[in-house]
Amino acid sequence: MASMWWKEAVIYQIYPRSFQDTNADGVGDLEGIRRRLPYLKSLGVDAVWLSPFYKSPMRDFGYDVSDYCDVDPIFGTLEDFDLLLSEAHALGLKVLIDLVPNHTSSDHPWFLESRRDRSSPKRAWYVWADPAPDGGPPNNWQSFFGGPAWTLDEGSGQYYLHQFLPEQPDLNWRNPEVRKAIHEVMRFWLRRGVDGFRVDTLWLLAEDLLLRDEPGNPDWRPGMWDRGRHLHIHMEDQPETYAYVREMRFVLDEFSEPGRERVMVGEIYLPFPQLVRYSQAGCHLPFNFHLIFRGLPDWRAENLARIVEEYESLLTPWDWPNWVLGNHDQPRLASRLGEAQARVAAMLLFTLRGTPTWYYGDEIGLPNGEIPPEKVQDPAALRQKGRRGEHGLPPGRDPVRTPMPWDTSPYAGFSSVEPWLPLNPDWKTRNVAEMEKDPRSMLHLVRRLIALRKDQELLYGAYRTHRAEAGVYAYHRGEGWLVALNLTGKERGLELPKGGQVALSTHLDREEKVEGRLLLRPDEGVVVRLG
Ligand code: GLC
Ligand code: CA
Repeated sequence: MASMWWKEAVIYQIYPRSFQDTNADGVGDLEGIRRRLPYLKSLGVDAVWLSPFYKSPMRDFGYDVSDYCDVDPIFGTLEDFDLLLSEAHALGLKVLIDLVPNHTSSDHPWFLESRRDRSSPKRAWYVWADPAPDGGPPNNWQSFFGGPAWTLDEGSGQYYLHQFLPEQPDLNWRNPEVRKAIHEVMRFWLRRGVDGFRVDTLWLLAEDLLLRDEPGNPDWRPGMWDRGRHLHIHMEDQPETYAYVREMRFVLDEFSEPGRERVMVGEIYLPFPQLVRYSQAGCHLPFNFHLIFRGLPDWRAENLARIVEEYESLLTPWDWPNWVLGNHDQPRLASRLGEAQARVAAMLLFTLRGTPTWYYGDEIGLPNGEIPPEKVQDPAALRQKGRRGEHGLPPGRDPVRTPMPWDTSPYAGFSSVEPWLPLNPDWKTRNVAEMEKDPRSMLHLVRRLIALRKDQELLYGAYRTHRAEAGVYAYHRGEGWLVALNLTGKERGLELPKGGQVALSTHLDREEKVEGRLLLRPDEGVVVRLG
């Protein structure tokens, strides 16, 4: 297996609005991220992924881009970005940025031109369609943020498609001019030196050419979100998408050199058999969200083993796995499992085969924030009040985007003024500085796990499930490592295949030699070096 940086890297996701404010407007900025680079370095992560910082009217907090080649003033300037990038590189950190190719802001000059009238030269840059015979939307497609995926443009009498907000019109990826324009955007940032992209909603780039209705979803119940009314066989994961991925990969490869591959991470919410096709199409790391959707809600050894084995069995020697436990759209890890098992989950993430991505704040066990109704800002929450999202999760995302608490100074060192979202209620004790002082904190555990993962066998060794007693999930990595995770709050044990030495416990308090039966305390995960 050829060594490549993105296989060995730990990726750390930053939501720029919430990492560090430096100009006293309560919103994080690029300069703030630059000043916190030493923290990232001290954690041991290898790459950062920055959620969007482009010019945007912020209807979806930057995932509605009005200029792909400029920085929104709220985050700083292009010069700030260049400085951040060069300092990150000087520290040996790679930088991935968010590419949002599926849709623009409705304020983007491309869309303003496209909607001007039916004969506009950019008309075919977006997906326009005539009304249904009754004057309603062209078909039954529903948006992610509630309501139809179509909005009528009064001026031209046609509807335009938007998988998300009406202010996020979908680009028409069938149009080669659109693809070329996005490739140019990629080149703009690659020339500046970025190490790759996390590509937003990669599985949504193409829709059915005939705009056929989606079939109903038998599992949908009133009270669930609109998008869930249907199965998505026409508006997601169309075969054309693989060709688009391949083209984007060629653009990345224009700028790649040995040891300096430019990388594509893809946001793809799909079952494994469909997901792995994106690797085969050229996406280096198609996000594997299965721990988030299937693992965390059913935190049992058999279930976890099933997920990992299913994925491992579908990967060819040319594919590389990846794992993630949270992001800016999903509930916080610590709130889903509680801190004790969140530590066990961290041990799982960093010892599985494949590139891990870590969401900012999870290393201090940041819980879901408490957002009073008048402070709710997420458009998904505002448009779908009280409705359950996919897998029964609440659709609101503000709680997982609260400011990073750094220390006990006012506003937790995040800002000198009131932040755009409230801090975690326990920020006076749950902050980076306090957790640095406690040698057994989750912060120290995450740091130790990241360091441990540099071992060649933990990076590349084969995964093999180790049958264990109920409540214990155990597996081998290569010949030399055994990981044993007690998923219960009770004492458990494990018969070791041979003697070894505890390399790390989630409790951070043992490193003894072991033989015979390994005792696992409640909520304890242990990595054993065998032999
Ligand atoms: C992705 C992003 C999400 C955003 C959406 C629309 O799912 O992760 O935050 O709202 O795309 O761009
Ligand atoms: Ca700011």
